[in-house]
Amino acid sequence: MSTIAVLGAGKIGEALLSGLLHGGRAPTDLLFTERHPERSVELTKRYGVRAVDVPTAAKQADVLVVAVKPQDIEPLLDELAPAITNDTLVVSLCAGLPTALYDRRLPDGVPVVRVMPNTPMVVGEAMSAISAGRHATPAHLSTVEELLSVVGQVVRVPESQQDAVTALSGSGPAYFFYLVEAMIDAGILLGLPRAVAEKLIIQSAVGAAAMLAETGEHPVTLREAVTSPAGTTIMAIRELERHGVRAALLAAIEAARDRSEELGKAHEE
Ligand SMILES: NC(=O)c1ccc[n+]([C@@H]2O[C@H](COP(=O)([O-])OP(=O)(O)OC[C@H]3O[C@@H](n4cnc5c(N)ncnc54)[C@H](OP(=O)(O)O)[C@@H]3O)[C@@H](O)[C@H]2O)c1
Repeated sequence: MSTIAVLGAGKIGEALLSGLLHGGRAPTDLLFTERHPERSVELTKRYGVRAVDVPTAAKQADVLVVAVKPQDIEPLLDELAPAITNDTLVVSLCAGLPTALYDRRLPDGVPVVRVMPNTPMVVGEAMSAISAGRHATPAHLSTVEELLSVVGQVVRVPESQQDAVTALSGSGPAYFFYLVEAMIDAGILLGLPRAVAEKLIIQSAVGAAAMLAETGEHPVTLREAVTSPAGTTIMAIRELERHGVRAALLAAIEAARDRSEELGKAHEE
């Protein structure tokens, strides 16, 4: 059994630790690093997992999961570079950071896998896309797939597609939250109490997601099944088309991809 250290146990790092424990990993196989001692004490109390410093994590762990904010990466790499060897796999969860950055800053040959997860990791329903860096092998990708499959689903993509992934599934939950928020407003407009509108829409979202995931049917087929001739749904669909909602989604996701590319350029040499 390998030892996994999470560097930066914030929202995503804690969700991963919690998921790994739920997935059957022993607390003794897990380590984490944190900047604030009181946060370390709290996490150790909650999960029974040991807090260490970065050099100790690099020495003792087989897999280092980097989960600090992208803007905090440089000081972390300064600490990591003298301590890490090629036997340790680095898994970066940092949005927008290319594997080339790690290749430049860490000793030659350290394997790196880049991951774009999303926030449903906190409820074990993440969508993570993983890409191999220059020194990562298919075996390293399998290790990361196994690790992340306890907190959701995993796909492999070439690193060149990570900006598109960021725009689609990285930011994706926010689009659904936005849609739910707007639909709840519509309920209020129609005179429903807020609590009732919230319940109606959230359960409709949960139900629709479960149908998509479990039936394997195409979304068009599922929508057509509730769109009867001259019925209520087609009247709503006509308004969505008239207001260009489909085109707005295409443009919005393209804008998110462009922004991700722009942010990534800051880390190019
Ligand atoms: N949340 C998302 O939706 C999401 C989705 C996809 C990917 N990600 C990626 O996941 C990463 C973590 O995001 P998050 O939302 O979990 O951020 P977060 O809650 O801010 O967690 C980062 C944690 O790392 C700590 N930290 C920073 N530098 C450190 C160092 N040198 N050594 C040890 N600990 C350190 C931070 O401490 P301080 O409190 O002192 O800053 C903080 O507790 C980011 O790179 C982000 O791009 C996040």
